[in-house]
Amino acid sequence: MKRVPHPIPYQGSKRNISGTILSFFPHRFDTLVEPFAGSAAVSLATASHGKSHRFHINDLNKPLMDLWNEIITNPSGISDGYETLWNEQKGREKEFYFIVRDKFNSTGRPDYFLYLLARCVKASIRYNSKGEFNQSPDNRRKGRHPDKMRSDIFVVSYLLRGRTIITHDDYKNILKKVSKTDLVYMDPPYQGVCTGRDPRYYNGIDFDDFLSQIEKLARRRISFILSYDGRKEGKTYGKEIPTDIDIQRMEVNAGRSTQSTLLGRNEITYESIYLSGDLVKRLNMPPDKILSKVIPYRGTKQMALPLNRD
Ligand SMILES: C[S@@+](CC[C@H](N)C(=O)[O-])C[C@H]1O[C@@H](n2cnc3c(N)ncnc32)[C@H](O)[C@@H]1O
Repeated sequence: MKRVPHPIPYQGSKRNISGTILSFFPHRFDTLVEPFAGSAAVSLATASHGKSHRFHINDLNKPLMDLWNEIITNPSGISDGYETLWNEQKGREKEFYFIVRDKFNSTGRPDYFLYLLARCVKASIRYNSKGEFNQSPDNRRKGRHPDKMRSDIFVVSYLLRGRTIITHDDYKNILKKVSKTDLVYMDPPYQGVCTGRDPRYYNGIDFDDFLSQIEKLARRRISFILSYDGRKEGKTYGKEIPTDIDIQRMEVNAGRSTQSTLLGRNEITYESIYLSGDLVKRLNMPPDKILSKVIPYRGTKQMALPLNRD
């Protein structure tokens, strides 16, 4: 698979399984819609492989979408901003991170945010109860070199400029507007980090609410792909989607998680991928071809091969 640019470091990015996700795309669709875009790994892989020419990326996190807007429409400005900060930090990296963090919390500026994401622990966004970014720096990392950052930013801008809608809305409002000719890829926050807190802090979606949303999508015959739960060997995270919704579940070997590697463990993570019933029909692939792309799920439910639902 060719190298896909990835300018925004982001915990939970689907970069490592985007190839498998793309292999479930139908031949033709209008717009790829990502209501929980984050670092938009799937949109970037899609654009890099020329599998769609229209995109809608959305995330509730406004500063993140402001950063996306800068990357796509002002690549040289945001690259310069990042480079300036990166150079200014030299020799006082720790102290400088906290200065930028304060400035970001009072201004929301995209170049500050990119710098913080490049330097913070596990590229993981954390907010306090006041909605302020409060993640600490990873003092072993200086952040990606500005030349590499600039080169990825320019490729992304080339791929997405003029063909991408950028919004910062609640996912439900985005789903209301999708049509049968679109393809929706959803990667909501893991339920482990999803405590139903104030949505301004970007970590809350309610499970039952979400179920009713995907039920509606399935009834409207929208084609969608959903990443929702998964497991590390022996440990499941997230609730499964009930079997009465018209979707098919499969598992993908997503390799070793960064955390396991850091802790010297060898645990493999398996991510679930759900395909909407309508998408399965559109794919019109024999079951063995679908399953050859993934490890079939061997849980207690849905032992049957996909594609045999009406
Ligand atoms: C698991 S991450 C998505 C990661 C993404 N697939 C990637 O490749 O980087 C989930 C995202 O959902 C966003 N989010 C949380 N609640 C949301 C909501 N109610 N509506 C829209 N986005 C939301 C979070 O800000 C977060 O960026």
